Amino acid sequence: MKAYCSRTALLIWFLMFIVSVDSYYYVTISQNGPVVRGANITFRADLFNSFGQPAKGTFWYVWKDNAIPQHTGEVEVHSPWTEWVVSFPASVYAPGTYEVDVTVSSSFLYWPLCSQRALFNITALLNGDLALSQRNRTVFGKFVSNSSEAVHRVQLGQPDRELLERNATSVVAYWFVDCVYYGSTGDLSLRFNYSGPEATRVVEALVVASYEPPATTTTTPATTTTTPTTTTPTTTTVAPANTTTPPPTTTTVATTTTPTTTSTTTTTPAATTTTASAPPGIPRGGGSHNVSAADFPFVCGNGSVMPDPKKSYGLFRRHVVVRAPVSGIEVSGSNWLQHGDMVNLTVSFNGSVNFTHCIQPKQGSYNVTGNETCKNEGALLRERKFRVIHYFRYPGTYVLLMIISNDVSRVVYPVTINIYEVTKQAQLSVIVVPVTCSLLAVILMVFGVAYYVQSRNRYTVEVADFDFGKASDMEYKTFRERLRESLANSINRPGDYRESDNIWSPSRQYGTLQ
Ligand SMILES: *[C@@H]1O[C@H](CO)[C@@H](O)[C@H](O)[C@H]1NC(C)=O
Ligand SMILES: *[C@@H]1O[C@H](CO)[C@@H](O)[C@H](O)[C@H]1NC(C)=O
Ligand SMILES: *[C@@H]1O[C@H](CO)[C@@H](O)[C@H](O)[C@H]1NC(C)=O
Ligand SMILES: *[C@@H]1O[C@H](CO)[C@@H](O)[C@H](O)[C@H]1NC(C)=O
Ligand SMILES: *[C@@H]1O[C@H](CO)[C@@H](O)[C@H](O)[C@H]1NC(C)=O
Ligand SMILES: *[C@@H]1O[C@H](CO)[C@@H](O)[C@H](O)[C@H]1NC(C)=O
Repeated sequence: MKAYCSRTALLIWFLMFIVSVDSYYYVTISQNGPVVRGANITFRADLFNSFGQPAKGTFWYVWKDNAIPQHTGEVEVHSPWTEWVVSFPASVYAPGTYEVDVTVSSSFLYWPLCSQRALFNITALLNGDLALSQRNRTVFGKFVSNSSEAVHRVQLGQPDRELLERNATSVVAYWFVDCVYYGSTGDLSLRFNYSGPEATRVVEALVVASYEPPATTTTTPATTTTTPTTTTPTTTTVAPANTTTPPPTTTTVATTTTPTTTSTTTTTPAATTTTASAPPGIPRGGGSHNVSAADFPFVCGNGSVMPDPKKSYGLFRRHVVVRAPVSGIEVSGSNWLQHGDMVNLTVSFNGSVNFTHCIQPKQGSYNVTGNETCKNEGALLRERKFRVIHYFRYPGTYVLLMIISNDVSRVVYPVTINIYEVTKQAQLSVIVVPVTCSLLAVILMVFGVAYYVQSRNRYTVEVADFDFGKASDMEYKTFRERLRESLANSINRPGDYRESDNIWSPSRQYGTLQ
């Protein structure tokens, strides 16, 4: 009975196994490479099921690469991911591209589920980049401002940095701008002022990491100070360089300049002796010196000789374009304006082309945060000036923000504008116009009354003129009456004439009497 049960269980398990095999898995590889030889490179495998979700269960991961000698690794974890760390010591492995391979198996019977492979690079030189910042702001592009100090910093990749932190006894960066040596630093950073005109410059950092015990490093500074005498252990080749220039004394500046001249003249001996005359021979600090390919085989794009296989080298190069920031903003034009007038300003400034600008009006007072930006990038300008014409509808105090930027700067320049109401003139007109109007009205009335009085006298005279009662009676004579009258007049003319004369006389007398 028990045996039967166990056999059923086995069958069920087998069916589940078939199901699990049938379901689809895939694995991805990620890495933190490229790394320098000697550093640890870390690979990570992530296992997903057919739904794209991290796989659940216990899995058996088998790692291997194609290096000789080969690295292998196996691990069984209850996790959808695992990591594998490998190192490629410089003494064993050559730099180049390798391939890593991971196979994931089910923990049950180690049935393979899926596999994946990826390429990775092991480099001879340290990996990383040269970061640049100005005014505590990272410079991402190639443009640097010529008005503020630029801080260069070598940022090594994480595996390489960990190697140096763990094993290196000294890490020094030698700095060059346009192939001119500007000294060495131990913190992998250089502060440099690109003051001067617009130009394209090349900044290079040669990082040399030494793994030798500190005892040997103490001897190398001794060689730097007194090169002619104490260089016997290592620099059998430096000696010829110095023999060509016997006059130089033990002053450091003189000795540094002379090797450059000798190396240019006699290139072949220098090339063979690069291992000896490498970076430790460079004096710390002082000024700028020309360098040759012999001194720094990587710098200035020349040389391919690996100076010392026991050291790690890194060359970090960056092209920068020097530009002048926007400065010296001057605004001409009136900022006290009557209501209704247009703001008309001319803004001029200095700096390197091209510029973008925009204007942002703000009501009331405004404190510039330095944070203001143009919407839509702003308008492009090729000249160092522009005009601002703006109309404010309501009187009050405003701030016009002029935001001007070029490749290396953005300046926010506030201009306060006061729009005042023309209050006094308005009151004057309010008073003057009604007063003059009413005065005019009074005068007109006075004149009108006077005229009326005068003209009424004349009117009464004329009314009397028209007031002839008897004459009006004539109008109402009928035609027959008039005919008869005229006939009568024509018959007895002398009497009628006198009569008619008498008819008109009273009116005449009345008019003259009055
Ligand atoms: C770095 O140091 C560790 C021990 O601290 C050593 O095991 C390893 O081999 C060293 N690596 C190199 C590249 O020297
Ligand atoms: C390895 O280096 C080569 C050449 O530098 C490059 O083309 C390739 O993309 C690199 N591969 C990886 C995985 O970084
Ligand atoms: C560096 O070389 C340039 C020309 O290559 C020369 O004009 C300049 O004087 C040299 N500077 C020093 C310090 O030798
Ligand atoms: C490298 O230096 C040699 C002489 O030292 C010179 O002839 C050659 O042109 C240089 N190459 C480059 C790429 O600068
Ligand atoms: C601007 O700053 C001053 C003091 O720094 C403050 O008194 C004033 O209220 C601020 N104005 C605005 C509009 O924030
Ligand atoms: C810039 O603006 C952001 C959000 O718009 C704000 O969080 C930040 O404090 C501002 N910075 C300054 C210096 O005003």
